[in-house]
Amino acid sequence: MITVAVIGAGRMGKVHGGNAARNPNVKLKYIVDPVAAAAQTLAKQLGAEVTSMETALADKEVQAVIITSPTPTHFDFITQAAKAGKAVFTEKPVDLNLERVNAALKVVADAKVPFMVGFQRRWDPTFRAMKKQVEAGAIGTVEMVRVTSRDPYPPPPSYVQGSGGLFRDMMIHDFDIARWFLGEDPNEVFATGSVLVDPEIGKLKDYDSAVCVLKTPSGKLAYIENSRRAAYGYDQRLEVFGSKGCLQAANASPANYSHWNENGIVHTKPHAFFPERYVEAYAIEIAHFIDSLVAGKAPEVGGEAGRGSLALADAATKSAETRQLVKL
Ligand SMILES: NC(=O)c1ccc[n+]([C@@H]2O[C@H](COP(=O)([O-])OP(=O)(O)OC[C@H]3O[C@@H](n4cnc5c(N)ncnc54)[C@H](O)[C@@H]3O)[C@@H](O)[C@H]2O)c1
Repeated sequence: MITVAVIGAGRMGKVHGGNAARNPNVKLKYIVDPVAAAAQTLAKQLGAEVTSMETALADKEVQAVIITSPTPTHFDFITQAAKAGKAVFTEKPVDLNLERVNAALKVVADAKVPFMVGFQRRWDPTFRAMKKQVEAGAIGTVEMVRVTSRDPYPPPPSYVQGSGGLFRDMMIHDFDIARWFLGEDPNEVFATGSVLVDPEIGKLKDYDSAVCVLKTPSGKLAYIENSRRAAYGYDQRLEVFGSKGCLQAANASPANYSHWNENGIVHTKPHAFFPERYVEAYAIEIAHFIDSLVAGKAPEVGGEAGRGSLALADAATKSAETRQLVKL
């Protein structure tokens, strides 16, 4: 049994806390959240106790923390937990500043604690099956990756304000997927963004619509497109093109059928948003974290994924600001 504390009882705290509580190898002991009502509601629901970060870290029984608090808190919580000898799962991004990410990863490495970052798309059964096909040589050498990622509606300005901007908050998932499928770190980044959806996002000097092109040293290319609004739901598509073929993932939908009649063919809408689309991925992700701890193995999707994706997000942010190609 792995004894776990969940830090943050918001959207992701509910998702990961629920998956941890359902895992037969987990004793979910604590929920930590300064908003007492949020902490109590989730703790009651999952059969855990409400406590402070200090108490959770001082408790020798606690072996792992799952950090689902807002991004600006991640650095302190990762480093405090690592120094206390706890295994760490943190939601993305590790931090919004690359130097702080490196500093956090050094503390984790020095403490020799298992560390995993919440890039749940890596655990999506469809994307994982595609990755296996790529590794088996089914499409030859990967040459181009195309990622389409559109949210159904924009987040509130309060979220945008602390998010680090679209490239670090939203496109970071797509950078991670692009790195994973390219199998090689891009060293050229060109990005551009616009405010086409919500003027409030523009007032915060962020974009709600963006595209980014990545190129690797051997010439592989990736194209990523983001929007903070899609009238038809959560749009998550992926295409990987290689020398011997192509793999393509269409949108998943809760009722996966199409209606054919004399007017045409209509397919059902995609999932509403990320909690529904990635429900399996989140469960597999936390199960992998726990299984790794039980087996005494380093979990997949560790510090390098956090660092590599943020380096691309920083470069894309700079490229959009300067309207120049950024070399890494
Ligand atoms: N992987 C994904 O699909 C995904 C999706 C959404 C958000 N995220 C990430 O998850 C993190 C949380 O996002 P969210 O959407 O759940 O936010 P949220 O605002 O819904 O929840 C955050 C919770 O943390 C609590 N909190 C604030 N300060 C705290 C502190 N000092 N200690 C403990 N708890 C504290 C808040 O009270 C709130 O309950 C962010 O880093 C975000 O980038 C990841």
